[in-house]
Amino acid sequence: MEILTLYNVTLINGDGIGPEITDAVVKILEASGVKINWDLQTAGADVVAAGDVPLPNRVIESIKKNKVALKAPVTTPIGKGFRSVNVQLRRELDLFANLRPSKNLPGIKTPFNDVDLIVVRENTEDLYAGIENKINEDRVEGIKLITRQGSTRICKWAFEYAVKHNRSEVCAVTKANICKLSDGLFLECFREVSKEYPNITPREILVDNLCMQLVQNPSQFDVLVLPNLYGDIVSDLCAGLIGGLGVAQGANIGLDCAVFEPVHGSAPDIKGKNIANPTALLLSAIEMVKHLGEFEIAQKIQNALFKTLREGKVLTCDLGGSAKTTEFRDEIIKNLS
Ligand code: NAI
Repeated sequence: MEILTLYNVTLINGDGIGPEITDAVVKILEASGVKINWDLQTAGADVVAAGDVPLPNRVIESIKKNKVALKAPVTTPIGKGFRSVNVQLRRELDLFANLRPSKNLPGIKTPFNDVDLIVVRENTEDLYAGIENKINEDRVEGIKLITRQGSTRICKWAFEYAVKHNRSEVCAVTKANICKLSDGLFLECFREVSKEYPNITPREILVDNLCMQLVQNPSQFDVLVLPNLYGDIVSDLCAGLIGGLGVAQGANIGLDCAVFEPVHGSAPDIKGKNIANPTALLLSAIEMVKHLGEFEIAQKIQNALFKTLREGKVLTCDLGGSAKTTEFRDEIIKNLS
């Protein structure tokens, strides 16, 4: 009899729609046969409301111990309040590479049929370093932090990814015509790193032009590597190319730990309605299952998801259907067998 490995994984079920989509994904993973001992950890706005800090130390310690986490989105107050849990988590664990693939999914009609893009976003620097100063009531400044070390390692990571996944081009996205020193340094590092990869074509583009090109002809791009802020914005645009935020997966990867999470946020507008699409979290979880080394099970879950999407009988409303999150979950579980 085959003995299945038991994996310890930190689970952050998040705010807003987080608990609903987490419940769906955990149940699908359980039905797939992968054996996971979930270490449930809470963080974010609900934790603050209960009197704790947004990112308790126990969450960091759990991920450091388990090395792998599945994370649902957490709410960050806009324009006030506590610092983003995501930004803190990525910096505390030095999860410097944010991987956000955008590829057409079966059954989901979009303006383009040949999108297959990899967004590699630098995850720890740029305006997200959180260095903001209030000079007086009418004047504030925010520091865009770009370092040689941070830029070099993310560019290297993007080229290494391209080599491992048979990609042919890596394109650096900047605004180096305006931010001559900061984006200029990022570009200098990109050019330096590219020399080590003669089989991968280096390309450069300004971020505004990229956005226009992406909505007109996305298939011309392969791997994109971007500083933090452009990466955040462009990956939402890329999510739109393949069916929206409900289907856009992601992962935060460092040298020691990996945190798998969707691109989307906590969607407070649809919280508690049982209509959120768990696909983005499920696709992130499939990548996590591969990361654990369980390729067959990952393929099985992907087949069940793709069958459900292709058949189009049971879809959540963001994909044009009328199914509840739980009905969509149950259809995927049915398709596992
Ligand atoms: P959002 O991604 O939560 O929502 C944008 C739109 O997409 C909304 O209309 C929402 O209903 C829809 N949407 C998102 N995910 C969906 C899903 N799975 N199924 C169906 N529809 C979905 O972005 P928003 O409203 O800008 O941010 C809400 C909160 O989320 C903020 O506090 C923000 O800071 C936080 N956030 C957290 C992230 C994370 O934890 N990784 C990432 C992005 C935002």
